[in-house]
Amino acid sequence: MAQFYSSIASCGMFVPQRVITNDELSNTLDTNDEWIRTRTGICARHIAGPGDSVASLGTEAARRALPSGDASNVDMIILATTSPDHFMPATATQIQSNLGATCAFAFDVQAVCSGFVYALAIADKFIKTGDASEVLVIGSEIMSRMVDWNDRSTCVLFGDGAGAVLLRRSTSPGILATNLYSDGRGYNMLYSDNSDPTFARGKVMMNGRAVYSMAIDCMESSVRSALTQNNLNVSDIDWFVAHQANKRIIDSVAAHLGLPSEKAVITIDSFANTSAATIPISLSLTNIKRGDLVVLSSMGAGFTWGTAVLRW
Ligand code: ACO
Repeated sequence: MAQFYSSIASCGMFVPQRVITNDELSNTLDTNDEWIRTRTGICARHIAGPGDSVASLGTEAARRALPSGDASNVDMIILATTSPDHFMPATATQIQSNLGATCAFAFDVQAVCSGFVYALAIADKFIKTGDASEVLVIGSEIMSRMVDWNDRSTCVLFGDGAGAVLLRRSTSPGILATNLYSDGRGYNMLYSDNSDPTFARGKVMMNGRAVYSMAIDCMESSVRSALTQNNLNVSDIDWFVAHQANKRIIDSVAAHLGLPSEKAVITIDSFANTSAATIPISLSLTNIKRGDLVVLSSMGAGFTWGTAVLRW
């Protein structure tokens, strides 16, 4: 029987036009550019307008990932999102409709900031079993509608945006390894609080310190495990594309791994934490060459975490 692999054929991203800088936030909040920049690496974030939706951002990112915008050969669409437009149906089906991807089936994955790595791992399995051949894996978020804009400890961290990759069946890898983990003992460390009726979607609450140290430990161990699975070493990595929650977290994981800092992609400065969208946005903005070894790793609420190792 033929052996199937999956590889990323193309990628795209889209962010809303409106940019809010740290200085602008300091006009309404007891915060300042220096605190946000030095503690997180964030300088600005893009924020959705009233006409934007998770589906509209995701659709535009997907169009940019599709060669000539043509979705007729796509047979599966997975949207990773923490902020779906509605509890039902899956926002992925709205994206399917917008794209005219009539041959596809579509669903959402909820693994918060790890959602893109989870969705990529699922897509890879479908391609490897021969059940799909062209899969759109999308991360799209409007986190700005889930934060309390009076809470400086959370609202400064997030932004809105979308990224997408087209994963295609190929004769060689492609994706070499994926691993996924969760530990529900961290459920209350980072969650949306639904007790305040003025927040229709709940508002993000977190124990920042606990999330910070857990993120470093989890990403380091899952990267090491995925590399070992393929007899690869840290020195083989060309690009480390980690979830962009905090630049200091990414720098620490790179330092713990012994990875030169220039191999760690940083986009958090311009976009902040767009949850499931940070990795595909970062992939779209990085000049990755065919043959490069790319490691994607993420950690988020749940706790959930995971890594994908791939040959570009
Ligand atoms: N501006 C100014 N001061 C602030 C701000 C702000 N925006 N936010 C908090 N502070 C203050 C606090 O009130 C505190 O003041 P105090 O000492 O008088 O009590 C002080 O700054 C230090 O606060 P800490 O929370 O201890 O600051 P820390 O260095 O831990 O940084 C941060 C906080 C940036 C949230 C960090 O813990 C972090 O990044 N954690 C990871 C959480 C995360 O990224 N969550 C996002 C989703 S999960 C994910 O994507 C992995």
